Amino acid sequence: MVTGSARGIGRALASAFHAEGARVALVDLDQSDLHTLAGHMNAARPESAMALPADLTTEAANVEVIDAVRHAWEDIDLFFANAGIAAGTDLTTDEETWNKAFAINLHAHRWAAKHLMPHWLERGDGYFCSTASAAGLLSQIGSAPYTLTKHGALAFAEWLSITYGNRGLKVSCLCPQGVNTDMLHQADDFGRGANVVKAAGAVLEPEDVAREVVQAIDEERFLILPHPEVAEYAKAKANDRGRWIGGMRRLQMKVYGY
Ligand SMILES: NC(=O)c1ccc[n+]([C@@H]2O[C@H](COP(=O)([O-])OP(=O)(O)OC[C@H]3O[C@@H](n4cnc5c(N)ncnc54)[C@H](O)[C@@H]3O)[C@@H](O)[C@H]2O)c1
Repeated sequence: MVTGSARGIGRALASAFHAEGARVALVDLDQSDLHTLAGHMNAARPESAMALPADLTTEAANVEVIDAVRHAWEDIDLFFANAGIAAGTDLTTDEETWNKAFAINLHAHRWAAKHLMPHWLERGDGYFCSTASAAGLLSQIGSAPYTLTKHGALAFAEWLSITYGNRGLKVSCLCPQGVNTDMLHQADDFGRGANVVKAAGAVLEPEDVAREVVQAIDEERFLILPHPEVAEYAKAKANDRGRWIGGMRRLQMKVYGY
């Protein structure tokens, strides 16, 4: 089951899992792209995909889609909490935007896990993956909501793995830097933050990211870093936070001029 799978990274993940022989449940706000993708998959292999249009910013919506998949296919082997938004900028960001960012980028992961765990504990097996971001390890210049929610998503994945890892749960967390999707090219207030991402390193294709994810899941690796330089930035941050903040300020100056 992959959320945010109508487009971008989620679509590439779902397609890669499908190519590996999995049945995939696709969830997204965007109905038409979702149905088109499920249609292609079912044409290639009958009854191998289902499309579940939903807005996952409430607990009820998360419960509803998980129940729908369980009803049709008995259980979910792997859940990928990937849907997310790049919303909000600085301290002037309105409360509605903050709440929406927290709901989809973080609480949706918790709501899904809350509903998945009892079954997974019972059978002693389950795989929870989430998409945080390099911003969850480092920071997102230009967006406080993105930085906080992605730090939260990574922290939640770590907590899940610590808490349930001895009882059969596997957890992985994907933390990419720039990926060539609509999110990176959106032209709203977040746009300058996206320019920082583009300036910070290589922009990968979603299919490259999906290939790395399939391999990491095969190896049951917790942290998935399709951009290897992110591991180096995280090490530099851990070694000397003051110096790392200085470097981030210089990068911000280049793009924002302050
Ligand atoms: N593109 C990047 O550079 C990049 C880098 C790091 C992390 N990420 C993360 O990767 C994930 C996927 O993003 P993407 O780059 O593919 O962007 P995208 O905008 O192409 O795809 C995100 C998908 O999530 C869906 N979605 C958004 N809100 C939803 C909601 N409330 N309910 C259901 N679906 C919803 C959207 O409709 C969209 O199809 C996100 O969590 C994002 O934060 C992206």
